[in-house]
Amino acid sequence: MRYQTRVEKIDEDLIKGEKLAELKEHQAIRLGARLLRQGEVVAFPTETVYGLGADATSSKAVGKIFKAKGRPQDNPLIVHIATKNQLEQVIEGGLTPAGRRLIEAFWPGPLTIILNKSELISVTTTAGLTSVAIRMPSHPVARALIEASSLPIAAPSANLSGAPSPTLAEHVLNDLKGKIPLIIDGGPARVGVESTVVDVRNDIPVILRPGGVSREEIEETLGFEVRVAGGQEVAEGVPPSPGMKYRHYSPRTPLILLEEKERDKIAEMAEEYSNKRIGLVITAETLQELNNFPENVLVVRMGSRSRPEEIASKLFALLRRLDQSNLDLILIEAIPEKGIGAAVMNRLYKASTRE
Ligand code: TXA
Ligand code: MG
Repeated sequence: MRYQTRVEKIDEDLIKGEKLAELKEHQAIRLGARLLRQGEVVAFPTETVYGLGADATSSKAVGKIFKAKGRPQDNPLIVHIATKNQLEQVIEGGLTPAGRRLIEAFWPGPLTIILNKSELISVTTTAGLTSVAIRMPSHPVARALIEASSLPIAAPSANLSGAPSPTLAEHVLNDLKGKIPLIIDGGPARVGVESTVVDVRNDIPVILRPGGVSREEIEETLGFEVRVAGGQEVAEGVPPSPGMKYRHYSPRTPLILLEEKERDKIAEMAEEYSNKRIGLVITAETLQELNNFPENVLVVRMGSRSRPEEIASKLFALLRRLDQSNLDLILIEAIPEKGIGAAVMNRLYKASTRE
């Protein structure tokens, strides 16, 4: 089905002021809620990235998400809720003490937890798994839309499968124009990388995907160390989070990640690829150290190494912009894997072409 895609902008003041009651009456959100109840898909802003939502209880509605994105059927979706009461409807059984502490500390916000699913949630949403991923976003537009629809909303990032996640309504339009009926424009997504996915079914939580809440913050809240699912599980063919096995977030232009120890070699590498147009993405600190770039090099700043939040918030927009700059190659500097820097590096590893 072809749609005439509408983009409806929401006033910044309503969002900044977190005017939930007013937002729920806003015509764009009422339209979005109506579409969701009719089994349609709607793109909406969250604090991490834009999501593409549908009724998580309806296999038919959720099927439209997979179709619009071109998403593999075996990659499950995150269910978004607006209140903690809604959690009971979507899970079977209770929360472990660690799970409870985490949602108390980080909800609403960029944390997704894995628990056993209830009957209510469609198996299409969970791609056949008996577990379900749940998140309560903090973005006022997301909360108002979910509340107005009175549904649990399944929503992956609103990009074409494999492309960088959208952090602006414009990114969603570029990817999904004609494939969905409505995009609600709530301005730039603040965090810029997706939520942290944590399996809380056992006493020791396992981080399945690094994201907007850092490992350090999680461990500080719990008072003990958690496990981070690594390449091991993936290599053994049992990815704990099905999304881990897909190459992701990728610009079409080949991208090489320059590890920290290679930082000195940046100028050398630019020369080695002298017959190519290169985008060189470096931190403010590295830019200070280097000068006299060859003519084939387009230098792009990605912010300071000491402020990974800033780098995260602009990361996907940057990858999309570079992809439209007619480059043959993107060289991008690695940053320390501390705090949200771990999520940035996870996305860059997945985007990079070099094994
Ligand atoms: O910030 C976010 O999480 C955004 C916004 C829109 O909320 N959503 C998002 O969704 O990033 P998506 O579909 O792009 O990524 C969902 C991730 C995938 O890696 C998927 O495999 C994993 O969560 N996941 C979903 N359900 C799961 C489950 N039951 N068990 C393990 N992993 C699961
Ligand atoms: Mg995604």
